[in-house]
Amino acid sequence: MRIRIWIVAIAMSQNISVTAAETLLERGNYLMKSIVACGNCHTPQTPKGPNREMELAGQFLIEVKGAFKAFAPNITPDKETGIGNWTDQQIINAIREGKRPDGTIIGPPMPIGLYRDLSDRDTKAIVAYLRQVKPVRNIVKKSKYNIPLPPSYGPPVDNVAEVPRSDKVAYGAYLAGPAGHCIECHTPMVKGHPDFKNQLGAGGFRFEGPWGLSVSANITPHDDGISHYNDAELATAIRKGIRPDGSRLMPPMGIAYYANISNDDISAIIAYLRQLKPKPTP
Ligand code: HEC
Ligand code: HEC
Repeated sequence: MRIRIWIVAIAMSQNISVTAAETLLERGNYLMKSIVACGNCHTPQTPKGPNREMELAGQFLIEVKGAFKAFAPNITPDKETGIGNWTDQQIINAIREGKRPDGTIIGPPMPIGLYRDLSDRDTKAIVAYLRQVKPVRNIVKKSKYNIPLPPSYGPPVDNVAEVPRSDKVAYGAYLAGPAGHCIECHTPMVKGHPDFKNQLGAGGFRFEGPWGLSVSANITPHDDGISHYNDAELATAIRKGIRPDGSRLMPPMGIAYYANISNDDISAIIAYLRQLKPKPTP
């Protein structure tokens, strides 16, 4: 009798360890290879996709004519040309406050306004991932801004709690906003700022690159947008970059990363998109 109880106790403790929360590095690995995708800007692109040998080593040019020519820097742990000498807190401040250790401000298009709401745990998870990336020596050119950068992106960010995954729409909003900045690319700009208030998700943002010209799609439940997609078709567009008619999505939609978004997360993102206000494409 005693022995049986003992076996049950072991089985229970094993069960607990199996379902234990993922470690910071596991979480960081998932986020960085899927929805967060810092590499979509910080890893150089080849015609076949991101250059894995140069993961996060920078030199990707993002240009908005008249406003800026921004080079995404080297954020590998290389001590001379990357961020190997920065403390965890300094990296967290760069991500959520757009401030470097020397006090200078990080300019657009790094989506700092949204990253301010990245949870403490997810930000630490991203840092844990960055620490174990291969250090790459690569000197990146300096960005040039013809627009004034703000003195700061707001008051210091203290604590940001996790968004409960049980609230599907709220968690989808977190994934499409602070974590993945889908809404930043998919909302038109008015006076240099995304018009989240009136045109959230309405698309119409133009991107020029080696692929030619791509215009971000309307992702609201409007006829101009995703109303004609069922959930499976929407998941295929986001994760595989293929529309229902078989055509392929161009960059900078981060398909190389979004392919790894989990089923639960894609379903939360879709639930969130479905309840946006329908808006026409501008
Ligand atoms: C949409 C493109 C984009 C995305 C996405 C992006 N960044 Fe950046 N990042 C930039 C650009 C461009 C700069 C340089 C801006 C400047 O020169 O002021 C930058 C600057 C930085 C810096 C400052 C490095 C230095 O040496 O000055 C860090 C650190 C950084 N990014 C980390 C991240 C992390 C971590 C993520 C993901 C959570 C991320 N970035 C996502 C474009 C991006
Ligand atoms: C860096 C900018 C950028 C980010 C981030 C981004 N997208 Fe896109 N997205 C685009 C562009 C540009 C297109 C249009 C591509 C084309 O026409 O070939 C597009 C196309 C789409 C489409 C296809 C719709 C259609 O009918 O053509 C969907 C759906 C979509 N994005 C959803 C998302 C979701 C969800 C996220 C976040 C997980 C996201 N996007 C993140 C730029 C972006």
